[in-house]
Amino acid sequence: MKENQASFTAMSVAYMRAYHSMHDTPKIFDDFLAYDLIPVEKRALIEQHLIEQNITCGQQLNDSDYSVSHSDQTINSESLMQETHRYAGIFSSRARYAEDALEKAVKQGVKQYVILGAGMDTFAFREPEMMEKLEVFEVDHPATQEFKLHRLAELEWEHPAKLHFISIDFTKESLVTALTSSSSYDPKVKTFFNWLGVTYFLTRDEVFTTLRSITEIAPAGSIVVLDYLDIDAFIPEKSSPQMQKSLEYLRKIGEPMITGFNPSTLAEELASLGFSLQENLSPADIEERYFKGRTDGYHAYEYAHFACAVVE
Ligand SMILES: C[S@@+](CC[C@H](N)C(=O)[O-])C[C@H]1O[C@@H](n2cnc3c(N)ncnc32)[C@H](O)[C@@H]1O
Repeated sequence: MKENQASFTAMSVAYMRAYHSMHDTPKIFDDFLAYDLIPVEKRALIEQHLIEQNITCGQQLNDSDYSVSHSDQTINSESLMQETHRYAGIFSSRARYAEDALEKAVKQGVKQYVILGAGMDTFAFREPEMMEKLEVFEVDHPATQEFKLHRLAELEWEHPAKLHFISIDFTKESLVTALTSSSSYDPKVKTFFNWLGVTYFLTRDEVFTTLRSITEIAPAGSIVVLDYLDIDAFIPEKSSPQMQKSLEYLRKIGEPMITGFNPSTLAEELASLGFSLQENLSPADIEERYFKGRTDGYHAYEYAHFACAVVE
């Protein structure tokens, strides 16, 4: 991430969830607040990027493609729909996966919910009944969190008393220090960690360091749900042209994806950190669970996996 710049990908994935919520039936995940949370000018920029990405499909990108120089461009709703459809399914289904697992965990007594790299997550405002049962911690990069807090103030959304904001840069700081700096966080209480849309932006060591931190500040039975990209996405001979185009786009906007994992060795790697891998959904599993029978073109994403692990 760029040091002083709020994450653009955080706004983009929220935009996709919002788009799905507003346009599609049945809904995989109804993020009915996400649209409002994204400021108008950011929405316009996201739409512009999506249209440009769709139009440049298969073409060589150059640096000027992603400047704000196309503000006078007529919105091409067909391109926007096509490009949004490519990703909205995966962003909505991973949110569904995490919040379904959270609901189950809460029934089993989990009392704290930590959203790592929360971005424009709307849970705390969307789920007032769940908020009664949980202390919620949004942990994010300072630049993204400052942007969100400013936007929340602008919208005048009521701040739930049990919502806490903690800033961290995973590349520089320890999650142990960050979470324990909050007097509201109790390291003895079973906790659910949501870590969606972040692992691929960090190095392998940073991902493992953060996971190890979870085992130091959360008791056995605590849960982490995360998504990750198959390592093949980063190997040019194995990566699809579409994947390579996404990697190039993210590099250009200053949020490069750099790390993937091998699904077949993940269980062993997590075990060495103190986790038991409970579920490791492949793109085919995700397709079967969330997209089977849909006729609107939504699908799982070719390299994206969802995993759920429990602290031993
Ligand atoms: C693609 S967004 C995902 C947001 C949210 N989890 C979701 O699924 O909608 C990536 C998030 O990771 C955060 N992030 C990326 N690199 C980070 C870092 N080094 N330290 C802390 N947060 C980081 C960004 O601020 C952003 O909120």
